[in-house]
Amino acid sequence: MSGYLTINSKKITTRSFFEMKQRGEKIAMLTAYDFTMASLIDNSGIDCILVGDSASNVMAGNENTLPITVDEMIYHARSVKRAVKRALVICDMPFGSYQISREEALRNAVRIMKETGVDAVKVEGGADILDTVKALIAAGIPVCGHLGLTPQSIHKFGGYGVRAKDKAEADRLLADAQALDVAGCFAIVLEKVPAELAAKVTEAVSCATIGIGAGCQTDGQVLVSTDMLGMTNAFRPRFLRLYASLSTIICDAINRYSEDVKQSAFPSEEESY
Ligand code: KIV
Repeated sequence: MSGYLTINSKKITTRSFFEMKQRGEKIAMLTAYDFTMASLIDNSGIDCILVGDSASNVMAGNENTLPITVDEMIYHARSVKRAVKRALVICDMPFGSYQISREEALRNAVRIMKETGVDAVKVEGGADILDTVKALIAAGIPVCGHLGLTPQSIHKFGGYGVRAKDKAEADRLLADAQALDVAGCFAIVLEKVPAELAAKVTEAVSCATIGIGAGCQTDGQVLVSTDMLGMTNAFRPRFLRLYASLSTIICDAINRYSEDVKQSAFPSEEESY
């Protein structure tokens, strides 16, 4: 297929993240939830694919990430993993799958790793889930943290605004990031936090920081693929850069197809048997 990068086909591992941080090489991450999109993203040379629980909004049409289940995440992660040869694949642990007890978290993470073949899991939170993070890492499961705006806590926050704008929350976030780093996380997503704080965290931890709405001084960036491709018109936060307007292209193609069908202009003789 055309337009694909073939320069460096070496498989990206969690170790690559540390090496890239040390080299000052930025990490590019996008979400994917299905085989077709994951093939396109992997063949384009992206470093990491996140099977985000944003699948709950983007794929299932839910209002937030809370309803998606472990079984549903496993379905999405398996579909993605089948397509990917190079990128590191991380699967979100959904709401309720790691907060109840360490044992349950371990059971669910082991299921995700065994049944999908992904490289790592991601969990939201800092000090409150530190023991769980340690238990997962002790079991050999690479963990990516997620701090700042953590969408699974949306009802606690009461909105999707920028987090850690005041000193107390910023100090807490920095301490959480350091604790996750010491616990052995290979990366931490920083979502919707002031750029200056994200830069400070990036400097303070040895693992890679991946920003979304966190300025340009993190070690990498992540966006929801359907958002940056312009497939989800309703969602336009300030941090989102549109790299395409696929919704226009897709709707135009669908309209032309529909028109052709109505006019009996499709299929033609050449398209018939
Ligand atoms: O679920 C998701 O897509 C995420 C990213 C926004 C970081 O967690």
